[in-house]
Order: sequence, then structure tokens, then C-alpha cells
Amino acid sequence: MKYKKEEITLRDGRKVTFGSAQEKDAQQMIDFMKIIASETNFMLRYPEEVKDDLEFEKKIISDMLNNERGIFLTVFDGDRIVANSHISLDFDFIKMRHRCDFGIGIIQEYCDSGLGTIMMKKVIEEAKEMGFEQMELGVFADNKRAIALYKKMGFKEYGRLPKACKLKDGTYIDQVCMVLELS
Ligand SMILES: CC(C)(COP(=O)(O)OP(=O)(O)OC[C@H]1O[C@@H](n2cnc3c(N)ncnc32)[C@H](O)[C@@H]1OP(=O)(O)O)[C@@H](O)C(=O)NCCC(=O)NCCS
Repeated sequence: MKYKKEEITLRDGRKVTFGSAQEKDAQQMIDFMKIIASETNFMLRYPEEVKDDLEFEKKIISDMLNNERGIFLTVFDGDRIVANSHISLDFDFIKMRHRCDFGIGIIQEYCDSGLGTIMMKKVIEEAKEMGFEQMELGVFADNKRAIALYKKMGFKEYGRLPKACKLKDGTYIDQVCMVLELS
């Protein structure tokens, strides 16, 4: 699905535009993913693992735009992508169709201005409108800011996967599994 365009003013006065990435934004999206993967260890991939394949990225974007039960909420500052979040089905099986997966990433320069909070409120509304009953996510246990945000939004921890992440230096990090009931 496509998120309708909307101007948002952040707590610090900066103005950004909410919308959905389109195929023409594919290179921007690749660049954005590389940046967020390099700024912290909180994303799943290291920057060199972000696929530098324009056609592949265009397909991901167009599949999402055509998906009735999935959406990218992308945040632009001018033409530059500064944040992205998604909801999508994990499995398109009858038994699983009430559940959606959520993910978010914001360039550090735009963090701590309330952007994550605004994005999550909007995405939760979208998920309800799409008929999902619960939203699920995984977050590395050392990501205190993300965990604080998710708890503020009502997510509850339901378990931990020990040693879910192994950094290049050999450090293990658990994954906190969280769920939000939407209905
Ligand atoms: C995690 C992320 C989405 C949060 O978005 P954000 O715009 O920075 O968050 P907000 O400013 O809306 O809110 C963050 C909240 O966490 C709180 N917080 C910040 N750092 C914290 C810390 N170390 N410990 C506890 N709480 C913290 C803030 O006070 C704020 O709560 P408040 O609004 O009640 O004051 C964003 O920082 C991000 O994308 N980080 C890098 C990538 C990432 O971690 N993605 C998530 C992977 S699971």
C-alpha cells in the first residue's frame, strides 16, 4: 500500500514529509539502509550486507506498493530518505494472517526528536485498518532507546532469544521479542 503524503513538524522545528518510497527512490533507499546499518549495531545487517542492486530494490518497493497488507512509511527531508518503517505479513498462511511484523530505522541526525513516536503511532493505525490483530518485532537487548519507544507504544516483552546476534568482535547480544495487541 501507499502511505498518503503528509508534512510533519518535529519537536525541534524541522519539517519532514511522510509518504511511501517509490521505484524512483530505490537508490536513495539503498543509501539510507547503508547509513543506518553503519551508524549503530542495532540493525540486522552490516552496511556491506545491504544489497547494492537497484533492480532488486525497485522490485521490493513496487511489491510493497502493490501489497494490500503491507506498507512502507518513509520519511523524506527534501528528496533524501531519513527514516523508514514497515509492516508486513510474515507468512501469508490462513493461520498467520492476523499477525504483522514491524521494523523501523531512523538516521541518527533525526533521532530523539519524537520522529519514531510519530511514525509508530501512524503505522499502528495503518495496521489496524489493514485488519491485523497483533504486531510483532524483535529488538537487540542493548537497544535501550528502541525498547523504551516500543514499551511507550504498548508493546510487551514475551521472550528472549539468547545470543541472537553475534557482532564481528564476537560479542553476543540477546534479542527481545515483543508484541502489541491491536484489537
Ligand atoms: C529506535 C528509534 C526508532 C527511536 O526513534 P526516535 O525518533 O529516536 O525516538 P523518539 O524520540 O520518538 O522516542 C524515543 C524515546 O526513548 C527514550 N530514550 C532515548 N534514549 C533512551 C535510553 N538510552 N534509555 C531509555 N530511554 C531512552 C526517549 O526519552 C524517548 O522517550 P520519551 O518520548 O518518553 O521521552 C531510532 O532511534 C532509530 O531508528 N535508531 C537507530 C536504528 C534502530 O535502533 N532501529 C530499531 C531496530 S529494532
